[in-house]
Amino acid sequence: MRYIPLLLGAALALATLAACDEGDIPPKTYERQATGQTIHLTGHLEGVGSWSDQYQVALAAFGTNAAGSTGNYSMVQRAIIPAMLDSEGNIDITLENVVSPAATVELCVTNLIRQRVVSFATLQLSDYTREETIEWNIGQMDLGIFTAIQDMVFNQFCVACHGSGGLAAGLSLKPEDSYANLVRTPSSRVENGVRVIPNRASASVLYQVLNGRSTPRLNGIHGNIIQNAQDVSSETLTNLITDWINDGAKP
Ligand code: HEC
Repeated sequence: MRYIPLLLGAALALATLAACDEGDIPPKTYERQATGQTIHLTGHLEGVGSWSDQYQVALAAFGTNAAGSTGNYSMVQRAIIPAMLDSEGNIDITLENVVSPAATVELCVTNLIRQRVVSFATLQLSDYTREETIEWNIGQMDLGIFTAIQDMVFNQFCVACHGSGGLAAGLSLKPEDSYANLVRTPSSRVENGVRVIPNRASASVLYQVLNGRSTPRLNGIHGNIIQNAQDVSSETLTNLITDWINDGAKP
């Protein structure tokens, strides 16, 4: 009796071997389904160290949700920390095990629950169905937190009135002006107010205006001014500014 399982096992092993011998399923296919795709990222990065430890700069894979749009939480990700860059700022890392239903791989910043905060570059996996290893050179890229705020918030929601289209309150939020117009700069509207006081978000006029804690007029103009954008919620974007101020409002 106790030999029967053994015999069955041997028979199964033989059958498997025979199937392989026939060669109709290339071993490569097996391997790829088990381990998924590998993304090899190279490039020159700046600003990686500007993020506080509530955030993670990462190479991350995102899937599609039921509605067909890209999910907000990464499936798998690899952190990028300053120590991974060589002395010239070059990165050379791989992200392995990217399996379906991953739809994109992004050079991005997530929070600690792997929710996308900012995406700097996106690779559509559907463009690379055949490659096991995808070579992704992103060239030179600035991943700094203030650059992210400029791109994701100021350029999208503010410059129409504070920059290209006008100069409301004498405040320009165009890329070349925004930092100097904000940090340690007196408010033109709030008495004794300062637009951004490093490390003190709640005392900064910029924070107050964006969080409904300023004068009725300023609150009224700016209520809901930051909208959901590029798979990132307005709340995440507003918090990004708060965290940037509280982490020293570095350029
Ligand atoms: C529809 C036009 C409009 C848009 C868009 C807009 N603002 Fe304003 N903003 C104003 C006006 C007008 C004032 C001045 C109100 C007053 O005179 O009291 C102002 C004032 C401010 C102030 C106070 C300036 C100071 O000196 O104290 C800040 C800070 C500010 N805006 C930030 C922003 C940011 C950040 C955005 C984008 C997220 C933005 N605003 C988008 C019209 C706008």
